[in-house]
Amino acid sequence: MATNRTFTMIKPDAVQDNHIGGILSMIEAGSFRIVELQKVTLTAERAGQFYAVHAERPFYNDLVKYMSSGPIVAAILEKDNAVADFRTLIGATNPANAEDGTIRKKYAKSIEANAVHGSDSDENAQIEGDFFFGTK
Ligand code: PPS
Repeated sequence: MATNRTFTMIKPDAVQDNHIGGILSMIEAGSFRIVELQKVTLTAERAGQFYAVHAERPFYNDLVKYMSSGPIVAAILEKDNAVADFRTLIGATNPANAEDGTIRKKYAKSIEANAVHGSDSDENAQIEGDFFFGTK
């Protein structure tokens, strides 16, 4: 994957609440091109693998349980400066701190049910994209 790509998931709460279209619209309005898109339900084992980097954190088990609680939408997005620009578009992890105009400000309910994931580095964008879509 080129470094002008990032990876996102629309999380179970946002899918359950019919916000797939609204979130993808904000992504496209932000000049990201949707390169890959997949709706899937993660098993607890797969969610645990995806978030293995957080295995020692106190919220890990809750996060794995939540992320395997219903369908998610995984996507690879393309744009110049994709990782940083997407983190700006989604806003702070805790929606209480998310700025106006961000996806989490509009759609997140809590620090757990925070609507979307966005990769935090080019390296992780590639790893996470490959996790769902294989090496491109
Ligand atoms: S970040 O975005 O990686 O800098 O945020 P971080 O605080 O390191 O959190 C990593 C992921 O864990 C989720 N998270 C939580 N889930 C449940 N409960 C609590 N308390 C909690 N705190 C953080 C957070 O949403 C991040 O998930 P992703 O999917 O990476 O956005």
